[in-house]
Amino acid sequence: MDKISIIKPDDWHVHLRDKDALKTTVPAAMRCFERCIIMPNLLPPVTSADSIKKYRDSILSYKPSDSTWTPLMVMYLTDQTSKKCIKAAYDQGLIFGCKYYPAGATTNSATGVSNPNRLNGVFGVMQELGIILQIHGEVTESSVDIFDREKVFIDRHLTKIKHNFPELKIVLEHVTTKQGVDFVRDSDGYIAATITPQHLLFNRNDMLAGGIRPHLFCLPILKRDLHQNALIKAATSGEKKFFLGTDSAPHARENKENICGCAGCFSHHAAIELYAEAFERAGALHQLEQFASVNGAEFYGLEKNSELISLLRDPWQVPNQIDYRNSSLVPLAAGTTLNWRLEI
Ligand code: DOR
Ligand code: ZN
Repeated sequence: MDKISIIKPDDWHVHLRDKDALKTTVPAAMRCFERCIIMPNLLPPVTSADSIKKYRDSILSYKPSDSTWTPLMVMYLTDQTSKKCIKAAYDQGLIFGCKYYPAGATTNSATGVSNPNRLNGVFGVMQELGIILQIHGEVTESSVDIFDREKVFIDRHLTKIKHNFPELKIVLEHVTTKQGVDFVRDSDGYIAATITPQHLLFNRNDMLAGGIRPHLFCLPILKRDLHQNALIKAATSGEKKFFLGTDSAPHARENKENICGCAGCFSHHAAIELYAEAFERAGALHQLEQFASVNGAEFYGLEKNSELISLLRDPWQVPNQIDYRNSSLVPLAAGTTLNWRLEI
């Protein structure tokens, strides 16, 4: 097979950053996706209707006027988020979800949620209005091993939230463990999960064996191969609860190759090609469309896109770096050969 055509995909989880970063990230997001859920972890974070509007406008100022590409905005939850604040954003049609970062879990999450119990009122309103809760599912206690943080979050917090708010729609973002996959699969239809290309293509050996590769460091951190295999199985199974969310997260090279390097992998230079690679390796290219273009739209209650995109079997080499801000970034799979190329 030399060419495959699929319904145009959407990315249900991406970081575009702000200001001059948008020069790189908006065109990259438009490359193969029609709609993108834009994560709100800026500095300061996007916590109100007003800041969402401002951020959306600055993103849209980088979009050519003839493009139908659409950013779908999200509100960042803090301990102070009020029901009124959520309602105001919802009434203006501004939000496609609210993001729950445990305080300190990842990039720009210092003002995230320190105690989920404080958000019971907010979760109640979200459940009532049908607003999706997008969760970074990791505990932050230093006593918990970094490789166990997703599992412990599920046991301590997610189980409770699901029990207390049975009809709250939840996305367990960038699921990375077999326990996470099993939890989502075994629960009811109110929970789903996104899966990134890096967690399908790599495991912790790729990051750590024979030397540290900081450009593979992201959060939640890459796990051992049994977890990678559970993710591959979930993504390629056709199950409706698993869908595409790249978590593409640009960081300038010097901030990753650093004594204390940032977490995040940039994948929007080749997002659909990277997923195609993983699906082909699993012998499941025929399931790519379901995962990339159908399941997410259904969970978010949106129509599938009407356009198609095509991928050609035409091996090409991923660049070693890409211009970013007044520096550069090293994209996911830099310097390697990918078998599939987006037909432009
Ligand atoms: O690796 C990550 N990078 N994980 C996140 O949760 C945030 C992201 C970022 O914003 O850089
Ligand atoms: Zn993210």
